[in-house]
Amino acid sequence: MKIRKAVFPVAGLGTRVLPATKAMPKEMLTIVDKPLIQYVVDEAKEAGIEHFIFVTGRNKGVIEDHFDRMFELDATLAARGKKAEMEILARDQPEAGAMSFTRQQAPHGLGHAVWCARDIVGNEPFAVVLPDELVLNTPGCLAQMIEAASQLGDKSNLIAVEEVPAHLTHQYGICGVGKRHRHGNMFEIDGMVEKPPKGTAPSNLSITGRYILQPEIFKILETQERGAGGEIQLTDAMIGLSKTQSFYGVEFEGERHDCGSKAGFLRANIAYAMARDDLRDGLRAEMKKYLDLP
Ligand code: G1P
Repeated sequence: MKIRKAVFPVAGLGTRVLPATKAMPKEMLTIVDKPLIQYVVDEAKEAGIEHFIFVTGRNKGVIEDHFDRMFELDATLAARGKKAEMEILARDQPEAGAMSFTRQQAPHGLGHAVWCARDIVGNEPFAVVLPDELVLNTPGCLAQMIEAASQLGDKSNLIAVEEVPAHLTHQYGICGVGKRHRHGNMFEIDGMVEKPPKGTAPSNLSITGRYILQPEIFKILETQERGAGGEIQLTDAMIGLSKTQSFYGVEFEGERHDCGSKAGFLRANIAYAMARDDLRDGLRAEMKKYLDLP
């Protein structure tokens, strides 16, 4: 199963981190020195993705600009001989034609956002990556999933899953665990539910922001009724697809950060800075002051 395309739903309003996201897309919030969207595009690139599909909304134009050339900046850096900065821009520059942008015109939910990408994806399996979730690991979460997919049959679907404390299951999609797959970090999913009411979750395995899906999901999304929160839910469409295709949960390696919440965003900044050789020691010294450590 070759996965060439990834869909990035980026139309969300980012209300959990207002006022930062009033005029700026949440996907452009920076973790250390890179916007969130750059991290997930890099993760997808590392996993072998060739085409990057963004489902955007109003006020998200700066995401498209971020992946374009900035001629004035290029010219100024070149004139000043700023080689290191020029290399950073060159490193992050996508190949011409490797990105597509389409709009979700109204906030109808994640399922609807993914459905908006149907024509650009076409009739092939694809990845979905939610940019407000980062997973700190090498290889990245999507690379791990694509590796897992290579061990399965062609019409398989995969979801990255992670255990969450029982009191948080109502905030996520939750999946039931079928019999374990022979390869250890993978298991067959036996039922899914989006944001189950407290105390009713079938397990504490939450659906995280990485999926590999078969194109048949689009047909189901076309007529998918609204579910939890009055939105068209991807999880509900996956429940529909699971009647004819298999779904696997992948327990990935790496630390997951929910950057769509203030605490998660701050934690990610610290974790990613501490993972950097150029920042670790300086940050540790600064943090000692604030944390009242010896
Ligand atoms: C979405 C999905 C949910 C998943 C979550 C992970 O929910 O619908 O199944 O657990 O992402 O972040 P949202 O966070 O958009 O409400």
